[in-house]
Amino acid sequence: MEKIIVNGGNALSGEICISGAKNAAVAIIPAVLLCDGVCRIENVPSISDVNVIIRILYELGASVKVINSTTVEIDPTHIHSHVLSASMASKMRASSYFIGAMLGRFKKARVAPPGGCDFGVRPIDQHIKGFEALGATVTIDGGMVNAHAVELTGSSIYLDKVSVGATVNIMLAAVKARGLTVIENAAREPHIVDLANFLNSMGANIMGAGTDVIKIRGVSELHGTTYSIIPDQIEAGTYMIAAAITGGDLTITNVIPKHLESISAKLIEAGAVVQEYDEAVRVIMRRRPKCCNVLTMPHPGFPTDMQPQMTTLLALCEGVSVMTEGVWDNRFKYVDQLTLMGAKIKVDGKVAIINGVEALSAAPVKATDLRAGAAMVLAGLAAEGTTEIENVEFIDRGYDNIVEKLSAVGADIRRVTYIDPNLGRSAV
Ligand code: EPZ
Repeated sequence: MEKIIVNGGNALSGEICISGAKNAAVAIIPAVLLCDGVCRIENVPSISDVNVIIRILYELGASVKVINSTTVEIDPTHIHSHVLSASMASKMRASSYFIGAMLGRFKKARVAPPGGCDFGVRPIDQHIKGFEALGATVTIDGGMVNAHAVELTGSSIYLDKVSVGATVNIMLAAVKARGLTVIENAAREPHIVDLANFLNSMGANIMGAGTDVIKIRGVSELHGTTYSIIPDQIEAGTYMIAAAITGGDLTITNVIPKHLESISAKLIEAGAVVQEYDEAVRVIMRRRPKCCNVLTMPHPGFPTDMQPQMTTLLALCEGVSVMTEGVWDNRFKYVDQLTLMGAKIKVDGKVAIINGVEALSAAPVKATDLRAGAAMVLAGLAAEGTTEIENVEFIDRGYDNIVEKLSAVGADIRRVTYIDPNLGRSAV
């Protein structure tokens, strides 16, 4: 078992370089299945979700060549399986993308239910709505999603809810369908645009990604390509808050500032100075955070994946802030952990009322999911004393070398391995 130990109180300063975007990588890598050649993918983040999804392709029969720590070459030519078992699919949410990719390539798919962070119900009804509109028959038996089609034919699909996953999956199933597919009320996240750019670099014909209407004209084949993944908007936002919560001065490099606009705006509202450069943002905080209200929304709104991190900053604000979760039903589980550190937050459904305190105090806490784990690190950076964070495997799903990146800018943080005292005890 591993945990992260943080001795709080250091103001961070220096530069942090951002890695490739997790949510782009876990969509682009399954998309390789659709092509008839070798794909070289660069700026791949070194995180467990990406390692898992590459492993899935390998176990399906792809050949994978690791060129260096951020570059892989994948040849999907010899993949002939359209089945994804629970042992492979259950590790992450993005395994659901293999339904669309396998449909697009084999016109059939049999995929076990995806895993992913627990925010309450995570349906895939909009994914299925899209597949059926393209002519597929979708059934669920024993939890396995079975999809098959004699022919995939372009269609117009209006998503009932803005859904990143459904937008990705429908794009993957439609890119080689016959005719025009129009996705309306589509997700507009940067990783949707990155996936469309990747597919177009293989010869697809996709227009409108980044808007709420995406048009996909089916093509008969997709060739190999070389593609570099965009920087991770959420990793960048997390370190922007690390600067703010420690009263520091950090320059976050290898970013696309446009992707960070809603986060920068909120940090400025909370009293930070944010300077934008071509491929970097600098965050300076010289005061206690001011209170502000935040509503998480699909892009270009304030990202839900920044909600725990921003709530943690606001736990130290002057006055009262309100955080409203506009995307997930139950994304405040981590608040119990913040309360152990002295935060005063009252959660009622999708709303958290945050009474700012002057200081958080260290405590042993647990990461309850990926972004909540990052929020615990941020809380530890600010808290007086030594904070120990368990379940760090959640954090490693989406943060590339978080301990190394933070200690390089002055954080007193380390990762330790320990034997779980309950390990091996017979159940009583
Ligand atoms: C993606 O999840 C991200 N994961 C999540 O990031 C992120 O929180 C979420 O998008 C929203 O931005 C990946 O990209 C791998 P959705 P996804 O489909 O696709 C409802 C992280 O921290 N919905 O956009 O599962 C759903 O219940 C992770 O990196 C339906 O009702 O999210 C939710 O309320 C955590 N039916 C809303 O839509 C559907 O068929 C948005 O979900 C699909 C979704």
